[in-house]
Formats: sequence, structure tokens, C-alpha cells
Amino acid sequence: MTTVRDSSVGDAASLRSAMVGELRGEAITSEAVTAAFTAVPRHLFAVGEPLRAAYEANRALVIKRTTDGEAISSLSAAHIQAVMLEQAAVEPGMRVLEVGSGGYNAALLQELVGPSGKVVSVDIDPEIVERARGCLAEAGYDRVEVVLADAENGVPHGAPYDRIVVTAGAWDIPPAWVEQLAPAGRIVVPLRLKGLTRSIAFDRTSSGLQSSSYRLCGFVPMQGDGAGTEQRVPLSDGADLWVEGEAGFDIEALREAVRSAQLERWSGAAFDLPDELELFLMTSAPGVVLLRASTEAAEQGLFALSATRGVPALISGGSFAYRIKRPNEATGGFESGVLAYGPEAEDVAARYVDLLRRWASDHRRRGAARIQYIPRTPATTTTTGSSRSSGLIVKRHGVVEVAWQ
Ligand SMILES: C[S@@+](CC[C@H](N)C(=O)[O-])C[C@H]1O[C@@H](n2cnc3c(N)ncnc32)[C@H](O)[C@@H]1O
Repeated sequence: MTTVRDSSVGDAASLRSAMVGELRGEAITSEAVTAAFTAVPRHLFAVGEPLRAAYEANRALVIKRTTDGEAISSLSAAHIQAVMLEQAAVEPGMRVLEVGSGGYNAALLQELVGPSGKVVSVDIDPEIVERARGCLAEAGYDRVEVVLADAENGVPHGAPYDRIVVTAGAWDIPPAWVEQLAPAGRIVVPLRLKGLTRSIAFDRTSSGLQSSSYRLCGFVPMQGDGAGTEQRVPLSDGADLWVEGEAGFDIEALREAVRSAQLERWSGAAFDLPDELELFLMTSAPGVVLLRASTEAAEQGLFALSATRGVPALISGGSFAYRIKRPNEATGGFESGVLAYGPEAEDVAARYVDLLRRWASDHRRRGAARIQYIPRTPATTTTTGSSRSSGLIVKRHGVVEVAWQ
């Protein structure tokens, strides 16, 4: 197969066709999405970038950073755009709201809804809105309406929407999105779940929203009234715990634990599908938060490599444990295990190993989680537990419930 990286063809049409070839079969599964990616000239939305960069399937291009260097707007990688458009299952004639503009994804949506459909794209940043309007006009997609607003309130004048496609990392689902969704509508949203992000396709139900699929992804953060409330709690030099809301644990005792001897235990269970296992661990026991260590901390031997990508850590009192892996042919390639620290290291390691075994025996496959979003009402406020209950993640406007089948 010719890929964009090794392609010797230089013109935009050939590069585009090579990109679509790479995406086909994995990210792109339908003829409609193939046709959209084939039609839209992506390089016209990647102003100032080399032609080849525009057509690398897995490459996001940063459009704007904060003064601290944090990316706040980007042309998302074609791969995740294709995945989300397949999740959205957009049909001709639909009305679609895109949250987060850039122009390219809106043009793909315009191709999917066709001449009888309508695409509204909203962005909070005036510079991005101007840029998106210019790129869309240049590429011939000026039927897309680009609106300057905080998407926390949706875009009421274009509602109801058959699809809402969110292209910024959302910490919650604002009531306006649910209110502005058509009765059989679908929201595809990169939702933050205790430090993880999954693109979830949610369909409307009588009590809220129910997932039909979810996929691993990463996005620039939502700004404005819906911005997240995650905080990093330093555990040691080069390592943090990512916490939603109040920490609720004894951080001083945990800092002491890091300095103690570590305990290593192995599960005898298979390790693969890391994104599925990670979501299971984060949502299947109380007291699990994301631990992230720097590469330097791992190189100094203070933390295992797994912690550099972010790993679920199970906390109990002043002790904690996190997942590691090692090669093991007997478990199909790799075996999962844990490193545990603190006075109750043995106990917390045993509980973590139990979770690893449960996942491997009962849930080790793609798509085993069912994710529900229940908007907050007086009834849900009293019946749902705290954010430390397993499977329930309490948000500002509702509760996310993750159940494993
Ligand atoms: C990844 S970019 C969008 C990419 C774009 N859809 C494309 O075609 O590639 C995310 C955008 O979300 C916007 N954004 C962040 N918070 C927002 C909010 N509360 N309301 C509207 N837009 C927001 C940012 O300004 C940024 O431009």
C-alpha cells in the first residue's frame, strides 16, 4: 500500500487519495465517509503547512496555542475525524451542529448532509471563526454557517439537530446540547472521564443518553463556561495524580509511600487492548485516579514506563498501586501486574490484581462498556453516589455511568 509518508506523488489529489486509502478499512468503513474525504481539499484548511503534512492521516496540525504553549485549536488528525464521522452516521438532509470550528470537518459534514442538509459550526474564538469562514469560502463550502459563541449554550437558532459532533475535549454535556438534539438524535463527543478521553456516540433515551460506541481519542480542551475542573496533585518530583473535584485522599501519606520500598505482583492474566483495560480500571473500583509520571522520572527508575502514558492508580489510605506489564507467551504476549507502595501495599496490590484478572476473564474485548449519561434532576441528585463510587462519575450537569458487560 502507498502511504502518504513514503508516497513519491506530490500533488494534492494523489496525496488525498493515498490518505483515504490509509484510512479505509480501519477508520473509514462507509462509502459516504470515503466520498467526503475524497471530495474535500484538506490542504486548503492547513494554510501555511507543507502539502504533505496536510495529508498525513495521523497528524494533527496546531492552529493556535496559549502564551504558555498549550494547544487550544488544531486541525484534528484525519484519522480521528473519520472515526467520529463514522460514529455519527450522518445522513443526507440532516441538520448538524459542530462544536469547535476549523472548517475542514464542517466541510466533510456538508458533503455528508448534501444540498438538502444544514451544517452549523460554533467556536468560542473570534480568530478561529474568521479563519474557518475564510477557508470554507476558499474551498467552496460557504453554505456552512460558522457562529461565534460559547458552545455551552449550543446554537438555539439552528435547532433541533439530528447530530451534534463535538471536536473539543468536553468535561460535561451541557443541558443545551440535549435540549437542542432531535428526538432520535445522536451526540458524538470526546468526553473526559477521570482524566481519560473517549469519543462517545450517545443516542437519546427517555432518561438521558446511552452510548452506541466509544473510541480512544485526544482533543484540545473545552474553554468557556464548560471548561473542566480536573486538577493535578503532585505526588513526587515528576509525577502527578489527576483528580476531578476534591482529592479526598491523604496526599502526604501517599508522598511518604512513594519513598518506601515497592512491591511487585503479577496477575497471570493477559495484557492487551490497553485503552479498554484502562477504562475498566478507572471505572470499576472506588479510589482509582490517573497517575502520570514524566519520562525523566521513569528513566531514573522512580516509576515504571506505564506511568508515563498515564495509568490508573488504586489508592487505599496511605498506600497505592498501579499497573505494569511484562512479556509472557503463556498469556498471549504480555501479562499484567502491579507495583504497590505504602504500609498496606500487599492488600492494595491484591485488590488491583483481582481487577486485572476480572477484566481478562470477563470483559477483555472491544466495546464491552455501556456508558450512560443521566442529566441531573432532583431525583438523580439523591440517587447517585459520590464520584468515588465505582462506575459513577459525577459531573456538573449530570452523571456518567459506566457498566461492563
Ligand atoms: C480541535 S479544534 C476544532 C477542529 C475543527 N473541528 C476541525 O475541523 O479540524 C477545537 C476548537 O474548539 C474550540 N472551542 C473550545 N471551547 C469551546 C467552546 N466552549 N465553545 C465553542 N468552541 C470551543 C476551540 O477554540 C478550537 O478551535
